[in-house]
Amino acid sequence: MANLSTKYLGIQLKNPLVVGSCGLTGSVESIIKLANNGAGAVVLKSIFEEEIQLEFQETLKKELGYQDNNLEFFDYYDYQIKNDVLTKTAELIGRVKEATDIPVIASINCRSVGEWFSYAQKLQEAGADALELNIFKMPQQTTEAADAIDAVYLRIVEKVIAHVSIPVSVKLSPYFTNLGNIAHRLEGTGAKGLVFFNRFYNPDIDIDNIRVTSGAVYSNIGDYVLPLRWISLLSGKLKADLMASTGIHNPEGIIKMLLAGAAGVQVASVLYKNGPGYIRDMLYGLEKWMDKKCLNTIDDIHQLGKQAMPANPELFERVQFMRYFGEHNG
Ligand SMILES: Cc1cc2nc3c(=O)[nH]c(=O)nc-3n(C[C@H](O)[C@H](O)[C@H](O)COP(=O)(O)O)c2cc1C
Repeated sequence: MANLSTKYLGIQLKNPLVVGSCGLTGSVESIIKLANNGAGAVVLKSIFEEEIQLEFQETLKKELGYQDNNLEFFDYYDYQIKNDVLTKTAELIGRVKEATDIPVIASINCRSVGEWFSYAQKLQEAGADALELNIFKMPQQTTEAADAIDAVYLRIVEKVIAHVSIPVSVKLSPYFTNLGNIAHRLEGTGAKGLVFFNRFYNPDIDIDNIRVTSGAVYSNIGDYVLPLRWISLLSGKLKADLMASTGIHNPEGIIKMLLAGAAGVQVASVLYKNGPGYIRDMLYGLEKWMDKKCLNTIDDIHQLGKQAMPANPELFERVQFMRYFGEHNG
């Protein structure tokens, strides 16, 4: 029988299937179900910088409309809201650690340098085994150069890493001019893992009522090809653990990511669609494939990927459909 245990961020996992940050990892009851069905680890629902700011603004409007420009009140409410969010997450970590034996990765979603290091410290004190930073700033100014935005990402990560001893990973978007370069520089700050990729909320347009609506929340089964490409391209070039996220909906998806060099996979959408019991099915599929291929460990899959995949990465570097269209003319 195959041994699925592996390491991610230096932490021992019983298998490489991690439940990614989402609503399913936001309560102790739901996390217990994920753990009982075999999840290797969970990334908690993120603490959102944007949400804290919105709540702060609403509180100011509601409670302090008449306290115009009273900075002391501003500070008090800002502190209070942040403290509430942190306390809730710290309590969740404590309860999950008590109720399960799986590693808990806390998650912070931030877009500015701010005080995230103090949040990170609190989450570490609460017992988080690691921290995932989900950083994305939607560029809104056409005058803002990519370099300046990259510098913010690097400063956030550097600052957090300087203030905690638990391993820190960074969840990335694919939207960089040179993804490999930012990945390399993030690794240089001390990030122990990189997650490829976050999936964003996408607005859509309702053409009957002419209004903006929400696009599809869940990923599709074919979406895995983007993280697969990048993990294949970068796995030999970086030392950080590469974690796959987006579009992993079945055992084949896990196997492909491991062959490409991923330390593990994060799943979310597929568990919303199929329920937590589907974790077992995916792990069973992985085990069966390993047995069929006579592979005993996750490292055997990594080695097989290295040997069997082309030594030159041209296939994953190719981006234009030149030949495809040449061969498919109708
Ligand atoms: C309902 C829902 C809530 C999510 N919430 C978060 C979150 O709080 N923080 C985060 O980093 N990612 C969040 N994500 C993104 C997932 O962690 C994951 O990166 C993304 O959905 C792609 O993986 P998937 O194809 O397995 O769904 C959320 C995804 C979904 C579907």
